[in-house]
Amino acid sequence: MTFTEPAQTPSALLLLGRGADAASERGVDCPGELPPASDPSLVARARAARDTLGERAFVLGHHYQRDEVIQFADVTGDSFKLARDAAAKPDAEYIVFCGVHFMAESADILTADTQAVVLPDLAAGCSMADMANYQQVVEAWDVLADAGVADVTIPITYMNSSAAIKGFTGEHGGAVCTSSNAERALRWAFDQADKVLFLPDQHLGRNTAVLQLGIPLDECVVFNPHKRDGGLTVQQLRDAKMILWQGHCSVHGRFTADNVADVRRRIPDVNILVHPECRHDVVLAADLVGSTEFIIRTLDAAPPGSSWAVGTELNLVRRLADRHRDKQVVFLEKTVCYCSTMNRIDLPHLVHSLESLARGEVVNRITVERRIAEHARQALDRMLALP
Ligand code: 13P
Ligand code: SF4
Repeated sequence: MTFTEPAQTPSALLLLGRGADAASERGVDCPGELPPASDPSLVARARAARDTLGERAFVLGHHYQRDEVIQFADVTGDSFKLARDAAAKPDAEYIVFCGVHFMAESADILTADTQAVVLPDLAAGCSMADMANYQQVVEAWDVLADAGVADVTIPITYMNSSAAIKGFTGEHGGAVCTSSNAERALRWAFDQADKVLFLPDQHLGRNTAVLQLGIPLDECVVFNPHKRDGGLTVQQLRDAKMILWQGHCSVHGRFTADNVADVRRRIPDVNILVHPECRHDVVLAADLVGSTEFIIRTLDAAPPGSSWAVGTELNLVRRLADRHRDKQVVFLEKTVCYCSTMNRIDLPHLVHSLESLARGEVVNRITVERRIAEHARQALDRMLALP
């Protein structure tokens, strides 16, 4: 396995449930009249509204979005690229973010108050981001303080976290990272401190620490926010270098090392390419690991006739298989489903947002409270300044 980017397995039903619960906790039921999905004029309506908006709107699309939505994106990218692209568009009145809630929040933090960030379906959350809430992290930090290690710990939060968690991270001297710069963020943190509290994806944290920084596996401990003191002793906290939050992606967490072995049996000479949100044993069994942007670049550069099994979200893998007909591109495990929350952004929601904006009505706006945004911005700026 080569880690390349310079860089519990719940059921699909649980995945659907989590997104919906978290959405209703935020009070984000999608308002307004949605056009029916069966409306044959949806593409034409989206195009007309997009043309009316012209340069006033900038549409971003994450690589996991549906084809029907991605066709309207002015830029596509992984979460790092999209954060940078949103920040680089100060003249756009409307930033229409086809992705999930934490991405739109980051775009709001990185853009001016005069710009409105719109998430076409407010219920498009992320089950991983929902696994760490602000109060839990404050309590965890108290546990670290009681163990005498908070002063020598820097928090690093994955982009897939709420603005409040990014705010906590910024306030405590830490930075945001994405799957494309986690190694650099960890090196930056370890230049200043002995330990890292890594939120909320234990797998990205562990994979990066062990495979890219060479930190021994037994120096990575998992902090379970549902157990007293995280389920860790004072000694365990003192001995650890990486304190990993017990969070994971409900989609990537479903790939297994058996899937890798199985595809190797079925396809001779197959290359296994996975996202670093996959579990450690899956990443160890794979050939290459990296962000969505890396996965795309790798397949673009692959020779005709080569075979690839890809362990990431299905919309992206399907698109890649379609784009590379001269190569064999298969999904690592056929029982793994789409990211249900990414999939919530569909053409009816996009049409509803674009048409509303075109007539001057801002719907589904994402606004991060100023006090939180200031600290979260520090954490995001530290990421953007990483070498
Ligand atoms: P990328 O940063 O690789 O786009 O990943 C975002 C994400 O949510 C993966 O599940
Ligand atoms: Fe969140 Fe996983 Fe979906 Fe990415 S794929 S948005 S981490 S639930």
